[in-house]
Amino acid sequence: MFKKYYEKTPTQRIEILKNNKNLSETTYNLLINGQLQLSNANQLIENQITTLEIPLGIAPGFYINGEFYEVPMATEEASVIAAASLSAKTISEYGGFQAIQHQKRIVGEIVFDVFDQSYLDNIDVETWIAYAREVYPSIYERGGGITNMYVKYFHSFATLYVELDSCDAMGANMMNTILEAIANKLEEKGFNKLMAILSNYNESSLVHACFKLPLEALSKNGFEGKLIGEKIVKANTYAKLDKYRSTTHNKGIMNGVTAVALACGNDTRALEASVHSYAQLQPLTEYRIEDSFLVGEIKIPLNLGVVGGGISTNPIAKLSLEILKYPDANKLCEIVACVGLAQNFAALRALVSSGIQKGHMKLHYRAMILAAGGDESQISQILEQLEKQPIKNEATIRNIINQLKK
Ligand code: MEV
Repeated sequence: MFKKYYEKTPTQRIEILKNNKNLSETTYNLLINGQLQLSNANQLIENQITTLEIPLGIAPGFYINGEFYEVPMATEEASVIAAASLSAKTISEYGGFQAIQHQKRIVGEIVFDVFDQSYLDNIDVETWIAYAREVYPSIYERGGGITNMYVKYFHSFATLYVELDSCDAMGANMMNTILEAIANKLEEKGFNKLMAILSNYNESSLVHACFKLPLEALSKNGFEGKLIGEKIVKANTYAKLDKYRSTTHNKGIMNGVTAVALACGNDTRALEASVHSYAQLQPLTEYRIEDSFLVGEIKIPLNLGVVGGGISTNPIAKLSLEILKYPDANKLCEIVACVGLAQNFAALRALVSSGIQKGHMKLHYRAMILAAGGDESQISQILEQLEKQPIKNEATIRNIINQLKK
């Protein structure tokens, strides 16, 4: 059904999503009539004047834990969805991805500079859980709430850590409300609060994802699969040695991760801060050859939500979740980890064979043509002429456009 999806028009792509039951009749009608818009933007931020639009597309055919997903991705980078789709296709033909997020927990910190150490050393967690239940009853009704509290001392500071199960929400507001309420109560006991705030370090929300591909399935543009597999392993090893490379390696992963998170209305700054701190300049992926297979793995901290925050107020974020057939938060995190892994696999596979410019520029030329003043209706014609030119740059594109104008 999604075969040669890239060759379809946007309207045909929407039709295909509807026929595959990724879209309800109502959403389909709103989308096709151009009525799915962020009309309440003025209520969402201070001093709002307009909205910034980013293309949202679909990477079809991600086979994850035995189910197919059509993954919405919001990105301005031309080759990101093409790369994710290509990896998804190859990997899904050979058993797909396995992914698991054992738990999703967020951590908050209440930092004191004046405190009673004996009280903190014997803190009665149950009392504070009961208090949090009073402060934020709805998360307890949904089966979540505080799961742990512990104390650490740093020089003259004491930090009370609060671990929370925020269920299907990302949970920042929920956590901060609970932290401030607890901190205020402790101030009544003579403690002096320096600050109370959620941490974006999501080590307790790790997702593991992996795939296994026969080496012959890796061959590309005349390069032998076995050689590509071995070079992918080496490229990953190299990223462990050189922070200039590991940063770019992980940027490629985030091309996919952030695009899905953004499409689903999540806080991408929180996500990226967490991932980069966790990575500590090391690659987030790992590759090895097992018999005649390439095994690819990713370990990534993800605390994404499917309710609350910018999701419930943004019709496009809701559309993305509908396309994913309404995953819960764990499932969304698992899908996103697989997209990150797929994106990295696509980048490494291209880098160690024909390079990335060939595929990337093929898609980027379209944007260059538009930026140079070319008409959308002439893109195919301009691309055809560009293909024949020995030097393909902005000046060549301008020349072709001017020739066509004459
Ligand atoms: C480009 O956006 C991402 C890559 O540079 C990632 C990588 O080098 O692994 C292609």
